[in-house]
Amino acid sequence: MKINVLFTYVSADDLSFTGRTSVVIDVLRASSTIVNALQNDAKEIIPVSTVEFAVKVSGGMFSGQTLLGGERNTKKVEGFALGNSPLEYLQELIAGKTIILYTTNGSKAIVKAKFSQTLLICSFLNISAIANYLVELNEDFEIVCSGKGSVFSMEDTVCAGKLISEIMKIHDDIELSDSARASLALNKNFGKNILKMLKETEHGKLLIENGFEEDLKFCSKLNYSNVVPYFSGNVIKALQVNKSIPV
Ligand code: MLT
Repeated sequence: MKINVLFTYVSADDLSFTGRTSVVIDVLRASSTIVNALQNDAKEIIPVSTVEFAVKVSGGMFSGQTLLGGERNTKKVEGFALGNSPLEYLQELIAGKTIILYTTNGSKAIVKAKFSQTLLICSFLNISAIANYLVELNEDFEIVCSGKGSVFSMEDTVCAGKLISEIMKIHDDIELSDSARASLALNKNFGKNILKMLKETEHGKLLIENGFEEDLKFCSKLNYSNVVPYFSGNVIKALQVNKSIPV
């Protein structure tokens, strides 16, 4: 099983994902929000790459069953029902609903990888579930870190390294690219105390400044959920119904 890591999605060509297996990570916060939304019984999530498209898609859907969610500069987009804090995605608000999600990098990274044969969404919250699924699949795959625009982000890369390290515990025939080895090394250095690492990142500091410190605590919970978010036909659904009980 060959594993490669892309530190950002920006320079990748959409078509390069065709037929491949990809895992998108945006720890702060899009992939954590997606996991929690599915954990809390959202029907599905439609990731989009522009606010205009989010509004257009929602116009064609049943009102009351569809919610617009997402952020610009970490804050809720004007007119949207929800922001991009995973803690906003409460079961009583979102169960059974379709969520159209726009975020600065995470939703765009997912849309970028849309031609993948298998496309999964990973965060610290569901890392073991994703590792187990990939080992069962037993195919080469690429981890796509959302990063910050065209720039590397520590939290996504540490999460990529932790995913690789989880897989290496249960699968021994693995070939790592240089970027995968670098991610593994970063996880070894910074992945022991996830909350501390998140608080020290550039995006973590910005979120704290903007009043979202609780989100960092939530996003640092390792294996909080067994949900495997799977993108197919333009929507993300939970592949696995066997959910953990959040504590
Ligand atoms: C992103 O997509 O860049 C992030 O999820 C931004 C955030 O909400 O913190």
